[in-house]
Amino acid sequence: TDGVITLDPGFKNTGSCESAITFLDGEKGILHYRGYGIEELAEKAHFLEVVYLLIFGELPTEKELDKFHYDIQHQSIVDEDVKKILDAFPKSAHPMGVLCSLTSALTAFNPTSVDVRSEEAMYKSIVKILGKFPVLVAWTMRKKMGLPLNYGSTSLGYVENVLQMMFRQPNEEYTLNPIVVEALDKLLILHADHEQNCSTSTVRIAGSSHAGLFVSLASGISALWGPLHGGANQAVIEMLEAIKADGGDTKKFMAKAKDKNDPFRLMGFGHRVYKNFDPRAKIIKKAADEVLADLGIEDPILEIAKGLEKEALEDPYFVERKLYPNVDFYSGIIYRALGIPTEMFTVMFALGRLPGWIAQWREMRLNKEPIGRPRQIYIGETLRPFIPVEKR
Ligand code: SDX
Repeated sequence: TDGVITLDPGFKNTGSCESAITFLDGEKGILHYRGYGIEELAEKAHFLEVVYLLIFGELPTEKELDKFHYDIQHQSIVDEDVKKILDAFPKSAHPMGVLCSLTSALTAFNPTSVDVRSEEAMYKSIVKILGKFPVLVAWTMRKKMGLPLNYGSTSLGYVENVLQMMFRQPNEEYTLNPIVVEALDKLLILHADHEQNCSTSTVRIAGSSHAGLFVSLASGISALWGPLHGGANQAVIEMLEAIKADGGDTKKFMAKAKDKNDPFRLMGFGHRVYKNFDPRAKIIKKAADEVLADLGIEDPILEIAKGLEKEALEDPYFVERKLYPNVDFYSGIIYRALGIPTEMFTVMFALGRLPGWIAQWREMRLNKEPIGRPRQIYIGETLRPFIPVEKR
């Protein structure tokens, strides 16, 4: 009545939670990280500042940021044994499956108990995974492309280091393109956290059993892989490519998306929370135009995407169901322009979401939350006597 929400005590034991990290208003299309608007952060901040903000709650001072960056960059060595696991995968393995396995493997080097014994121990685990995860992302891509692996450099910025590990060819200097750096930095900020979405809730509930940080993150990677969640950015590009191959007839795909007997959905459209627009999609759409123009790239699927969006926004089926473009609708067009293979798009989503997962896991552990235990409404059989098989 007076605007104060009182939480049923049982609420906390179901895996749902109170959180001070990210605020969403689905009706108004509002997204704040620790009280800062996503529009301002995407425009003015760097990804590593946002990582610090999400995890520790405040924007870092220059000194704090420098130490954070130093600690992370000096954690980018990955045990050579992880390479043996990477080598065991066929090139055909999906990068999300590879990334999930490599992240789980890191747990062997970071036992569960050390994570939370003290803030200092937790900080060490956090910078460890922030330093090693980009290496796993880059190695996953290089493996997929059949290219030799690169190592992290302690003389580059966080995003610059990711790019050089992903794209530097042997015996070549890798020239960083500031347009590419800025585009990736912005995309990672826009993916960094999103309250209790499917994969973040998975990380929280896995961690609530006191499973370690790294293996809880691996559970989040699994959940993110699904095409209804983070896998959508890859599915969007595949859908746009199919429309292009089919002669660009968006009406046919719109009809399929509305046909109840057809499982096809317009990928990159709709959202459980945003019922007017996804503020991230607005920013990414504008960035897609800018990045492709700056890089001098003409990508016909951007025009197909815009045509599809225009049609859907005027179609009663989509308007009635409040279906608008979400974060995944335009992001793949930028990843493509940056030269990232389509199968790596969801891995890039995971790289962006990593700080959000870490922040949410840390909040849950510091709050000493009980083990998550969702309840159910039982609708099955009532008690009945056993019947021996010969009498069934
Ligand atoms: C992400 O939660 C988060 O915050 C997630 C995320 C994050 O940052 O972590 O924002 C990232 O996962 C974005 C979503 C990416 N997924 C997609 O783009 C896949 C396509 N979209 C959907 O499948 C769907 O819209 C969801 C999964 C995103 C949301 O599903 P809901 O809220 O469960 O909606 P629903 O399935 O109940 O659909 C409601 C109606 C249904 O029609 P009716 O049965 O009422 O007639 O809308 C229809 C659906 O058929 N519908 C769609 C549609 N999405 C919903 N119809 C066609 N195309 C679509 N994309």
